Amino acid sequence: MPSLTIALFVSLFVCFANVNASPKFEELFQPYWAADHFSFDGEAVNMKLDNFSGAGFSSKSKYMFGKVNVQIKLVQGDSAGTVTAFYMSSEGAKHHEFDFEFLGNTTGEPYIVQTNVYVNGVGNREQRLNLWFDPTKDFHSYSILWNQRQVVFLVDETPIRVHTNLEHKGIPYPKDQAMGVYSSIWNADDWATQGGRVKTDWSHAPFVASYRGFEIDGCECPVTTASSDNAKRCANSGGWWDEPVLSELNVHQSHQLIWVRANHMIYDYCSDTARFPTVPLECEHHRH
Ligand SMILES: *[C@@H]1O[C@H](CO)[C@@H](O)[C@H](O)[C@H]1NC(C)=O
Ligand SMILES: *[C@@H]1O[C@H](CO)[C@@H](O)[C@H](O)[C@H]1NC(C)=O
Repeated sequence: MPSLTIALFVSLFVCFANVNASPKFEELFQPYWAADHFSFDGEAVNMKLDNFSGAGFSSKSKYMFGKVNVQIKLVQGDSAGTVTAFYMSSEGAKHHEFDFEFLGNTTGEPYIVQTNVYVNGVGNREQRLNLWFDPTKDFHSYSILWNQRQVVFLVDETPIRVHTNLEHKGIPYPKDQAMGVYSSIWNADDWATQGGRVKTDWSHAPFVASYRGFEIDGCECPVTTASSDNAKRCANSGGWWDEPVLSELNVHQSHQLIWVRANHMIYDYCSDTARFPTVPLECEHHRH
């Protein structure tokens, strides 16, 4: 069966060969919402929200495991009511999702970074923090590292959140669905800024978020391959992301995470006893 052999060879090659340090936007991504709200200025890709539309881009491929990274400069000045998101997601009712959501604010007031993790279609795992820099002044890196042991959210390589594989406690862990990489900007003034009290001021539109430094280094999953085959192939791909050293944070990173949580965290669903009278199972290891 030569054609099958070739197909297998091609998909393995794709899986291992995708190590491209700084590929261009067009190689990895495409606009999926409002292509006319994009502009390219040589240094960056700019995506705008105005009173006609938001905008979004998505990866051309889907991936299992690895690391995705972009540098973002968030909306300058008045960004109240706007949300800019950078996330990975699979498809369907039982999808998995790893989210960064940047909640805008009035001029001079701080952005909030909200993260969330969906497993089998269920989210409700919000954490919120403010940043140790002004994310509207410069580009900063936002990344997601995903392997079979943990999902790590990083800001400028500092871990801000870890979602650990606790399957040994019977808690489902996302490792069976290929995920796309997405970003979007939209109007969310019903909830985003100061609990929805501050509305988008359209006289300050357009609201522009800028992107550069696009990197995806993971196991690429051809859309033509069945997802169960992709899951098996990527689980056994021997990618760098499954090196034992990446199965948990190192000591330095653990200290960084403790610092972030002590100094910058403003909300953690794990501590929200009004919302969750019974502590969510995956939170219990935070509390001993
Ligand atoms: C906006 O600024 C206010 C006042 O500093 C702050 O309470 C709030 O957490 C900030 N962020 C958002 C998204 O509302
Ligand atoms: C969008 O905002 C501009 C400026 O405020 C206004 O002139 C225009 O009518 C608005 N368009 C829509 C569709 O609301």
